[in-house]
Amino acid sequence: MKIKRSHYILTLGATIVFAAFEIVFVQGCAPTNAVAAKTGVQLWGENCQRCHNTPSPSTFSPEQWETVGMHMQTRALITQDEKNKIVDFLKTVH
Ligand code: HEC
Repeated sequence: MKIKRSHYILTLGATIVFAAFEIVFVQGCAPTNAVAAKTGVQLWGENCQRCHNTPSPSTFSPEQWETVGMHMQTRALITQDEKNKIVDFLKTVH
């Protein structure tokens, strides 16, 4: 009896710990509303001048910006959604 009870408590404890981790990790990956609400121009200003001067939107054609976006997404470690917003901004201002 004693063993069974402690086993039950252990299992319960492990379940609670696991659930807590899951909440932290799953929610940790979801972008906050504040980030999701950012516009292309904001994301561009915040992400695209960390390593070099931000090239002006008129520097490249819309097609070239698509390619630049693909390359710089991996460098800037931004999401697909953020990259799309930035590239859309660069193409429309062009
Ligand atoms: C982690 C550093 C880093 C970040 C952040 C970054 N870049 Fe770059 N970028 C580079 C490096 C290094 C090069 C040159 C080598 C290459 O082309 O891969 C470059 C080259 C470029 C070029 C080509 C410039 C030319 O005259 O040929 C453009 C355009 C550019 N980046 C745009 C962007 C945009 C837009 C963003 C934001 C989404 C961005 N970069 C974010 C590192 C970065």
